[in-house]
Order: sequence, then structure tokens, then C-alpha cells
Amino acid sequence: MFVYRGSTALITGASKGLGKVFAETLAARGMNLVLVARSGDALQALAADLTARHGVKSIALNADLGETSAATQIARELERRGIQVDLLINNAGLGLTGSFLSHDLRKEQSEIQVNVQALAALSHLFGSGMAKRGRGGIINLASNASFQPIPFMATYAATKAFVLHFSEALQFELAGTGVHVMAACPGPTATSFFDGVSTNVSPRSMDRPESVVQKTLEAFDRRKAVVYPGRAGVRAATWLSRLLPRALVVRIAAMASGKMGLHG
Ligand SMILES: NC(=O)c1ccc[n+]([C@@H]2O[C@H](COP(=O)([O-])OP(=O)(O)OC[C@H]3O[C@@H](n4cnc5c(N)ncnc54)[C@H](OP(=O)(O)O)[C@@H]3O)[C@@H](O)[C@H]2O)c1
Repeated sequence: MFVYRGSTALITGASKGLGKVFAETLAARGMNLVLVARSGDALQALAADLTARHGVKSIALNADLGETSAATQIARELERRGIQVDLLINNAGLGLTGSFLSHDLRKEQSEIQVNVQALAALSHLFGSGMAKRGRGGIINLASNASFQPIPFMATYAATKAFVLHFSEALQFELAGTGVHVMAACPGPTATSFFDGVSTNVSPRSMDRPESVVQKTLEAFDRRKAVVYPGRAGVRAATWLSRLLPRALVVRIAAMASGKMGLHG
């Protein structure tokens, strides 16, 4: 069982949504925290609040993971401060909705940088130390979107397929080293994720971030490779893509994203 108290977690995308709930939950378990996101003020306030409430060390690192050098800069800064990361939660992520060609190319590339490149870089930079010490954990936020191509969220679904496949393979490679890797595949969750996107999905029909985080950490404690922390129907839908012909899966996914109002 992973020992939380006194260990250090690095959480990306900790300024709001699932990342903030991970931070609050892990601080309550006595973990020291490194909080990463672009919203420096929100991170500073959260770090101060968690230190005051739980007596843990908590630092805020302002970083844009859309920049190619961000992961290396974070690792350098933590080395300079003598901070070792025991649990990495690659949570930062974003999803553009609407037609691929309607988006600014730089935004598409930034989405891939944050969801894929930064996640792989941080896993490498901090996973190496964990493997040497024979102890650690990596939780990567994938999605129910990981299981099929999704027209009008094309890049997002493809990046989340990467996260799932990468995490499962890494979990296998690191089995026996003392480092446990897990992918979390939530369904629609009531966070800021859909802010600024016109969608027909009401927050009432989404999962609560607190429940998603609790189920994710329970599964991590049980050393699962993949967790489905959303409602049962979301998990059931992930089976369709394993059973049906791919062309049909794409059509069904397009219908579903249209029904959610994501075609832009
Ligand atoms: N909500 C859902 O329905 C859902 C479902 C399945 C999977 N997920 C995944 O869960 C993870 C968390 O999402 P959420 O729902 O909590 O979304 P959210 O409320 O929008 O939070 C996203 C977090 O990512 C950070 N972030 C975004 N771009 C960044 C960048 N360039 N550099 C650094 N940090 C960045 C944001 O911080 P700043 O803006 O301060 O930088 C924020 O803290 C994501 O990987 C998402 O794909 C979400």
C-alpha cells in the first residue's frame, strides 16, 4: 500500500477541477504537495490554504505545460529545492471541441503538448527517480474518450487514447520495480472542463469530481492498472468500441458528440 503521509505528490492542473480535489484529498492524507498550473494566484491561495489546514508543505509552481521546456524546468526547479516526487498525478488536460480544421493550428498543437508530450516528459523525468528508489506512483488522467475516435473532438480523443495505451504499457514495464502506474478513465465530470463550450450535457448528469477522485485513489491503493471512476453506463459504453466494427464506432461516437452539442 502506498504510504501517503510525509510523501510528496506533484499534481499538474491543480488550480481547479479534478486536480484541485486531488490536492485537497492528498493533503488531508498528510502528503506534501507540488501544485502546477498556469493560474499562479489560484495555486498560491490553494497551497497556503492546504498548509494551514493540514500542516503539510505545499508549493505552487506556475508553469504552462503547453511550452515544450516546461517539464524539464519543473524537474530542475524541484532538484534545486531538494524536493523528491513520490507520486506524480498527470492531470492537466484540455479538449477543443468542434471541427478540427476550424481551430487555430497552434491551439491543436498545444493540446497535444499538454495532454501527451508534457505527460510523457514528466513520467520520464520523475519515473526514473522513483524506479531508482524502488518506490513511487504515477496516475495519468485518460478518459472515456480514450476508447474510440471522436469526430469534433478528434485531437482530444486521440491524445487520451495515447494516455491510456502509454500508461498500460508503462505499468507493465515497471511492475516489480515498486513503481505503480495507473490510468484513470472518468466520464463527463462537473468541472471547468466544459467552460466556454456550448454543450447540452447538464452538470447534474455528470459525476462529481470528489467521487471521481475518491474512486481513483481507491483503485490506485488496490494497484489497478486502469480505473473507471465514473457511473456504470460510461464504463459500459467503453465496451462498444471493443465489440463493434470501427467504422460503426466512429459513426456512433459522432452521433454521441452531436447529441452532447459539441459539433460547434
Ligand atoms: N471533466 C471531464 O468531464 C473529464 C472527463 C474525462 C477526463 N478528464 C480529464 O481530467 C483532467 C482534469 O480535467 P478537469 O475536468 O479537472 O478540467 P478543468 O477543470 O478544466 O481543469 C484543467 C486543469 O488543467 C490545467 N491546465 C490546462 N492547460 C494547462 C497548461 N497549458 N499548463 C498547465 N496547466 C494547464 C488547468 O489549469 P490552468 O488553467 O490554471 O493552467 C486546470 O487546473 C484532464 O486531463 C481531462 O482531460 C476530464
